[in-house]
Amino acid sequence: MRLILSTLLLGIILGCSGTDQTQNLSPKEAFIDSLLNEMTLPEKIGQMSQATGSFEFTGPITSDSSTLELVRTGRLGSFLNVVGAERTREAQEMAVNGSRLGIPLIFGYDMIHGYATTFPIPMGEAACWDLDLIKRSAEITALEASAAGVHWNFAPMVDIARDPRWGRIMEGAGEDPWWSSKVAVARVEGYQGDDLSSTGTIAATAKHFAAYGAAEGGRDYNTTEVSERTLREIYLPPFRAAAGAGVASFMNGFNDLNGVPASASHLLVRQILKKEWDFKGFVVSDWASVQEMTDHGYAASDKEAARLSLAAGCDMEMVSTTYETYVEDLVAENASYLAMIDDAVQRILGIKYDLGLFEDPYRYSDAGREAKYVLHNDHFKHAREVAKKSIVLLENRDNTLPLDMDLAKIAVIGPLINDPVTPLGTWSAQGKKEHVTTLLEGVQLAVSEQTKILTTNGCEVNSADKTGFKKARSLAKQADVIIAVVGEEAMMSGEALSRSDIGLPGVQLELLQMLKATGKPVVVVLMNGRPIAEPWMYENCDAVLETWHLGVQSGPAIADVLFGTYNPSGKLPVTIPRSVGQIPIYYNHKHTGRAFDPADRYTTKYIDEKYGPQYPFGYGLSYTNFEYSNLLLDKSSFQAGESISIEVIVTNTGPVAGEEVVQLYVRDMIGSVTRPVLELKGFEKIMLAPNESQTLHFSLSAEELRFWDEEMQFNWEPGDFKVFVGPNSEDLLEAEFKLL
Ligand code: GLC
Repeated sequence: MRLILSTLLLGIILGCSGTDQTQNLSPKEAFIDSLLNEMTLPEKIGQMSQATGSFEFTGPITSDSSTLELVRTGRLGSFLNVVGAERTREAQEMAVNGSRLGIPLIFGYDMIHGYATTFPIPMGEAACWDLDLIKRSAEITALEASAAGVHWNFAPMVDIARDPRWGRIMEGAGEDPWWSSKVAVARVEGYQGDDLSSTGTIAATAKHFAAYGAAEGGRDYNTTEVSERTLREIYLPPFRAAAGAGVASFMNGFNDLNGVPASASHLLVRQILKKEWDFKGFVVSDWASVQEMTDHGYAASDKEAARLSLAAGCDMEMVSTTYETYVEDLVAENASYLAMIDDAVQRILGIKYDLGLFEDPYRYSDAGREAKYVLHNDHFKHAREVAKKSIVLLENRDNTLPLDMDLAKIAVIGPLINDPVTPLGTWSAQGKKEHVTTLLEGVQLAVSEQTKILTTNGCEVNSADKTGFKKARSLAKQADVIIAVVGEEAMMSGEALSRSDIGLPGVQLELLQMLKATGKPVVVVLMNGRPIAEPWMYENCDAVLETWHLGVQSGPAIADVLFGTYNPSGKLPVTIPRSVGQIPIYYNHKHTGRAFDPADRYTTKYIDEKYGPQYPFGYGLSYTNFEYSNLLLDKSSFQAGESISIEVIVTNTGPVAGEEVVQLYVRDMIGSVTRPVLELKGFEKIMLAPNESQTLHFSLSAEELRFWDEEMQFNWEPGDFKVFVGPNSEDLLEAEFKLL
């Protein structure tokens, strides 16, 4: 069955491919062209179709016999949710040995924060502000996945999110386009490496294209209405960055963007992605998002949905079967679709070629490598490192933290103290609770033998039952300090998991209030998949750690911070609102004509809520203190083609060594359209010993000051600017310059 393929491959290698080499085709192009010429229309459509496996590690790949028949007859090009060296090999043999051309399958899977070794949820990891660490998480994910037969990751998710009611805010890198773009590149490079054919790398996917995070009301899958300027200024940059980094694929969003479902958006896919950005990879729909265009009321039938998606450049249909069912008819009615089909198939075959699947379809289905690399101990070391650096210290009154390791009695109280599932977060792939070290276990491992640990849950995460308060109060009164572990369970954020209220669920706030009333110091450990709005907690408890869902090494990482083994350095990649009523609230907002002024009634504000957030973008404390001074510019004005140098001195004025994320922002004071009051343009994470100072240098060019102007041209405009440097997006030194 593979004779044709082998002949083609050999022909390419020997340089006698039958294709006219005078066309200067690369070996890859020549091979794909030759293969395409061999393919029937049904076989081409098969490459554009993806089915799901059974999600299980054992048993039949799928219970759908018709799907298996499609595999055997070359009418299916990809599976998702088929993982493991053995199962992928089994499915691959069906395709390679069963079908006429033996074109290998490509196996896709969702591994947004790890394959088996699970790292912090992506938004939490974005709080570490260490691109090398973030890239390393992706590299390990690729190493484990590619050893388990998986070729293709439906990650990174690069959607900007400004609404924490939206459950999928946990999947991206937060609210800022500049930082999300840097993180997107780190993750794409981590997954794909320098060579997709290497057995340690996998194809990546930039998703969900585009503006899926702008869902009205924060309700997942909901309508998105975004001006083209906001689309290009805020939502597209991380996708552009991923494309620039060579990401292998894009995934359509479920959302209708300004009335057009993303899966059929000519603007997004044909115009911006494939034409403007010259994207050479392929586009996969989201789960049944092609067929759902009938639900959107955009396609009158499944056949019309297939036509609209194909015409808009969606190359592969995930799970729904409109391509398999109707595209032959579409071609019979209009042969012009053939060129679109050939383009789609060439893109898909191109990634399979780059992965080395034509040379060896089984290279990733290697049980020996799977046993060697999956859950390797080195991966757990990294998991602890990146987890502890993702923790954000939000409050530390009277230096409650760090705790002594030889305290006599510590009360560890709360519904999440020993929960091994929640730290895995949502979208946890092959991460399993038995891989997790819980917070209680982490504390037990950290303290001295003399320390007595008193534990009780006190309440559940999301119930009204307060019968556990009595025991909790009793234990708290006996302790020197209370570690209260509260927040959201894993499945309270993620896909289809939006919340209308972003406070602590159930009676957890009342638990904290009861514990605080005992008079003992209360250290809050928050575990959550979105910013939590809970002013009383932040303003009354003695210390608050934002720990997100930190993955398999959650417990040790949090204990490292609690007991001072590691001085926390995380900074928020998202704004934390004071209340759900403030949403959307984000740092890079416009000035308006009536900026907030407490002394002036007629300015933008609420009469029943404070104006500002609980904590701003970029915020995070340390066990030491940092002082910023001497913000200097090397010139007061410059013109395009030049750059301006900015320097600042940062000094550790506190008692212990610590890392600081020094942030650089700008403000374009006047524009042909209104401009944000702040835009992140740089950062540097530094380590300083006590009393140590460091002079940091940044530079800015006119290119970095470009925006989509009144004519929708991406350009800079001369005028006055301010530049800011500081530890977050509010406490800033400022200077000014002119762009000529
Ligand atoms: C889901 C998600 C998408 C995921 C896909 C495959 O519905 O929207 O992010 O990659 O289906 O699981």
